Amino acid sequence: MKEKGRILTGHRPTGPRHIGHLIGTLRNWVRLQEEYECFFLIADLHVLTTDYAHADWIRSSTLEVLADWLACGIDPQKSTLILQSALPQHTQLAVLLANLVTVSRLERIPTYKEQIKNLGLQPSLGLLSYPVLQAADILLYKANAVPVGEDQLPHIELTREIARRFNQTFQPTFPEPEALLSENPRLPGIDNRTMHTSYGNAIFLGDTPEDTTEKVMSMYTDPTRLRATDPGHVEGNPVFAYMDAFNPDLAELEDLKARYRVGKIGDVTMKHRLADVVNAALAPIRARRAELIRRPEELEEILLAGTQRARTVAQATLEEVQVRMGLGLGSGPISKGRKPAESSVPLMGTFC
Ligand code: TRP
Repeated sequence: MKEKGRILTGHRPTGPRHIGHLIGTLRNWVRLQEEYECFFLIADLHVLTTDYAHADWIRSSTLEVLADWLACGIDPQKSTLILQSALPQHTQLAVLLANLVTVSRLERIPTYKEQIKNLGLQPSLGLLSYPVLQAADILLYKANAVPVGEDQLPHIELTREIARRFNQTFQPTFPEPEALLSENPRLPGIDNRTMHTSYGNAIFLGDTPEDTTEKVMSMYTDPTRLRATDPGHVEGNPVFAYMDAFNPDLAELEDLKARYRVGKIGDVTMKHRLADVVNAALAPIRARRAELIRRPEELEEILLAGTQRARTVAQATLEEVQVRMGLGLGSGPISKGRKPAESSVPLMGTFC
């Protein structure tokens, strides 16, 4: 039997998941579980890089993210769910890999530059080394593929560079992981900007049907359309982006688009129909989520069981890396090796 490839991916626990996560990533992850051996990481250490002083919020977000993942169909029987901070191997590997990367390489990563602009703060060492920790997350499990959004591509590229550099310097150890980009288009927020928790334009998986309807009724539509009888634009209209994502009735979908284009259906009617479609699609997810969130101890147990399973893989990789780098005890007398007169390994340069 052909061995399945291995995936590692994750989210930072920055609050409950919204429909953008469902359409953009979670539906895809649920499918990938059938084809790959999947490790799904709750990257709570990464949250600290921008917000380290809200302990209660990190903890509650962790459970909410987990409940949302499970409610969407991430299956702890098929996949391994990991809490990053519970496995010190993530941090340990990151510390080792940090030596293979220059500061200037990290300073040029676009997400870092953006964060500095957004935060209006002096960047911390933690923020600068964010992508090194992410590389450790991926390499610790020797993942072959990493499903991520486009914004994460520079981090995957760095991970590949680190893997290559490690393999060349020591012995072939890590696969160079491929980014897997989702084919689903990104779902816009209700105001047609990028959907983002902090923009107040998201519909959360845990929102009530009433909240959802209210949000849908306030959605941005085609601004060129002044009357219900004006011809409307379907492309670039978030109401139709949502309809495409959530309405399984393709014949109805085509009919609504055709009528909208010729001014035979008003925005208010469209939004009422959309609210029903979205609420119907979310109903089973919400029911499972409510059930899960009621039992936080069970959620913790699921995370603990996955993290235990991951520990075996993580520890094996970490030990292998330590031995190859000449670290740790237990792999031969420490006096055996001699430092060469001159370092044979260039310390910097390749990625400068
Ligand atoms: N940086 C990712 C994000 O913000 C989260 C993340 C942390 C991640 N570690 C990872 C994603 C490893 C993929 C693989 O979305």
